[in-house]
Amino acid sequence: MTIDSMGSEALARIAAAEDAAALESLRIEFLGKQGSVSALLKTLGAMSPDERQVEGPRIHALRQQVTDALAARKAALDGAALAEKLATERLDLTLPAPQSPRGSVHPVSQVMDELAEIFADLGFAVATGPEIEDDWHNFTALNMPESHPARAMHDTFYFPDAAHNGGRMLLRTHTSPVQVRSMQQQGAPIRIIAPGRVYRSDSDATHTPMFHQVEGLVIDKGIHLGHLKWTLETFLKAFFEREDIVLRLRPSYFPFTEPSVEVDVGFAVETGKGGKDRRVLGGSGDDPGHGWMELLGSGMVNRRVIEMSGLDPDEWQGFAFGVGVDRLAMLKYGMDDLRAFFDGDVRWLAHYGFSAFDQPTLSAGVGARA
Ligand code: DAH
Repeated sequence: MTIDSMGSEALARIAAAEDAAALESLRIEFLGKQGSVSALLKTLGAMSPDERQVEGPRIHALRQQVTDALAARKAALDGAALAEKLATERLDLTLPAPQSPRGSVHPVSQVMDELAEIFADLGFAVATGPEIEDDWHNFTALNMPESHPARAMHDTFYFPDAAHNGGRMLLRTHTSPVQVRSMQQQGAPIRIIAPGRVYRSDSDATHTPMFHQVEGLVIDKGIHLGHLKWTLETFLKAFFEREDIVLRLRPSYFPFTEPSVEVDVGFAVETGKGGKDRRVLGGSGDDPGHGWMELLGSGMVNRRVIEMSGLDPDEWQGFAFGVGVDRLAMLKYGMDDLRAFFDGDVRWLAHYGFSAFDQPTLSAGVGARA
């Protein structure tokens, strides 16, 4: 076969190669160690100088042609593959966007974000603690020793046999153990809120076995009940986004606070000629003077709790409060059955949920709906 016919046959076969694998086997057939073009190159050594002067350039030209043809075919195949990929992966940007966002922020998450925003503005950090808690942090360190009757008020889920520091493990019944953990871990002064899940063996329209609380704790020097009242008032005004919130502090009892106060909230509404009545938030409030809603528990942290948490109660004092997050959400956003919070019904979530873009901020309103 002449060099010319070898060349034209090689170029024709390269041009007809259908994929990268076929092309590679052609490269080996022509240019590989045992390839036909390589074999031709080897014949140069045995030629006379005159012969070599004629044949040399022709053989080298053939090798160059074949090399170029292989590269050109490879580029063409790659280009075709890319074009095909682009065609199948094409996105039609003119298609309409989905009608509504797929997910929503649960009202409990929304309210927790609102609380974090409001309290951050007052200098509070967010603290957390374990949901699987030991008896000591959940009860004993909060001034509820083994025999304390207040323990019976918490319908506690205990773990069967796990013991820790001589006490059983349990699902925390309130967020108050985070008070103890915060004092132990960071010392004083402290300003924290601790939102989270809590558990009690209880279930009806207003109780679920898991619910949410937020705990507040301030420890510093010279803290008194006035600080507590101002803080709660400022918090509730920001949360309900109205200035006419009024608080009523009733004497109460919690083992971990002394004195203890239960806080009721109401707000003043114009009743035409009659002036101002105190009315219950979200309730009917037909009976002026009885429009108070029991909202949260609080008090000055019992010195025994401060002591058991490793601080000197003669040096450090403080206040604490605990409030149900689900209850706050129900009051603010008007749901009446707590159980629906945890059913996962997408219709409920679509109705009561919030847009992820609607972050609570103090400037735009902590409860703004998109
Ligand atoms: N831990 C209490 C409960 O779950 C709520 C509570 C009351 C928390 C008074 C406090 C407090 O910090 O001072 O019922």
